[in-house]
Amino acid sequence: MANLLLKNIGLLATPTGSAAKRGREQGEITLLKGAYILVKGGVIDAVGSGEVPAGMLENAEMVDVKGRLVTPGLVDAHTHLIFGGWRQNELGLKLHGVTYLEILAQGGGILSTVRATRAASEQELAGKAAKELSAMLRMGTTTCEAKSGYGLDPEDEYKQLRAIRRLNETQKVELVPTFLGAHALPEEYKNHREGYLGLLCEEMIPTVAREHLAEFCDVFCETGVFTAEESRRILEAGKKHGLTPKIHADEIDPIGGSQLAGAVGAITAEHLIVCPKEGIASMAKGGTIACLLPATSFYLGATFAPARAMIDAGVAVAVATDFNPGSCPSSNLQLAMNLACLKYCLTPEEVLTAVTLNGAAGIRRADRIGTVEAGKQADLLIWDAPDLDYVCYRLGANLVDTVIKKGEIIQF
Ligand code: NIG
Ligand code: FE
Repeated sequence: MANLLLKNIGLLATPTGSAAKRGREQGEITLLKGAYILVKGGVIDAVGSGEVPAGMLENAEMVDVKGRLVTPGLVDAHTHLIFGGWRQNELGLKLHGVTYLEILAQGGGILSTVRATRAASEQELAGKAAKELSAMLRMGTTTCEAKSGYGLDPEDEYKQLRAIRRLNETQKVELVPTFLGAHALPEEYKNHREGYLGLLCEEMIPTVAREHLAEFCDVFCETGVFTAEESRRILEAGKKHGLTPKIHADEIDPIGGSQLAGAVGAITAEHLIVCPKEGIASMAKGGTIACLLPATSFYLGATFAPARAMIDAGVAVAVATDFNPGSCPSSNLQLAMNLACLKYCLTPEEVLTAVTLNGAAGIRRADRIGTVEAGKQADLLIWDAPDLDYVCYRLGANLVDTVIKKGEIIQF
C-alpha cells in the first residue's frame, strides 16, 4: 500500500486521546489550520501544519484537500443493521396515533421484523445490510456497531451475528457485533417469560461468547419488554461469560434502566430520552457513556434526551443513528449530528467528539480509531465544507467528499 499525503487541509478538526471525553473536555478539540497528514501502511504516521517536510513528499501519493475540512471517520455506535423486511405499514398507524409500544403489544413492531428476519437466510440478511453499509460509508461512517435482536431464538440470533461476521470480511465498514437476544419476548414464549430468560442466560449467551459471535450484550429495558430486574439478570449472565453490558434505557418510560447501567458497569446506556437525575448520577459514578439517538426522538415524536445535563454531570456523550426498521429507518449519522446540535444544543465541537472518539469508546475501539493522531488507524473524511459549523448547519445533506478507510481512498 502506497503512503498517502493529505496536504492543503484548510482545517483539521479532531478530538485527541484514547478514552471518552466528558464534561468541558468533550468540546475541547484540536483545530489545526493549514494542516497535512502522512499515512503509512493504513496508519497515521504524522500530523502537522505549515510547510510539509521535504522527506514526506517522497514515495507518497498526494491528496490535495483544497483548503477544506478533514475529520476522523464517523463511528456509529448503535445500529440494528441486520434485519429482514421493512415496516412502512406502521407509518399509517403512527399517523392515526397508535404508539410504538401499542404496535409491539399487538404483535407488530419488533415482532413483525422478527418474522421477516427468521424467514431470511444469512446470505440474504448480509446482502441487504451490505447495500445499506455502502450508503453509510458514502455518508462518512467508517465503523459501525451492529446488534442482533430480530431472531429471538438461538439459530436465528446466531444467523444475524454470522451475517455481521461475513460482512466484516466482504465490505469496508468495520462492524462491531452486539448480542441483543433480549430485544423482545418472542411470541412463542408469550406465556412463558421464565423459559425465555433461561434460554437467554443458560444457552444463548454462553454460545455467543464461546463462539466469539459478539463482544457486547444488550437488553431492551422498557415497559412491556424487560424489567430492570430481568435486565440485570441478563446483563450479569453476559458479564459472567465475558460479554460487556450495554442497555437500551429510558427510551419511552424511565423504569430504572439508566440507574442499572451505572450499577452493572455498562459501557454504554443508549437512548436515555426520559433519563431521570438518578440515572445521570449512576452513569457518572459507573463511568457509563451515554449513547444518544436524536433521530429516534425525532421519528417517534418524542422529547430529546437531557444531553446538557449529562455533560454537566461529567457523563461522556456519544451520538449514533439507531438505524432500524421501526423507530429510526435512517442510517444517516450526519442527520443525527444536525439534530444533536439543534435539539440537544451541543456545540459542533461536542458533536464531533460524540460521533468519533466517544462513539469509538462506546464500542471499545478508542485506542485505535476516533481521532486523527499519529499511531491511530487512518480512517479520515474530507468534507465538502470549510468548517464544523457548516457541517452541523447544512440539514440533511451528505457533505462528505472523500472517505479514507485504513489508509485506502474509497472509490464509489
Ligand atoms: O432502539 N428500542 C428498541 N429497539 C429499537 C427499535 C427496534 C424496532 O422497532 O425494530 C430502538 O429504538
Ligand atoms: Fe436501538
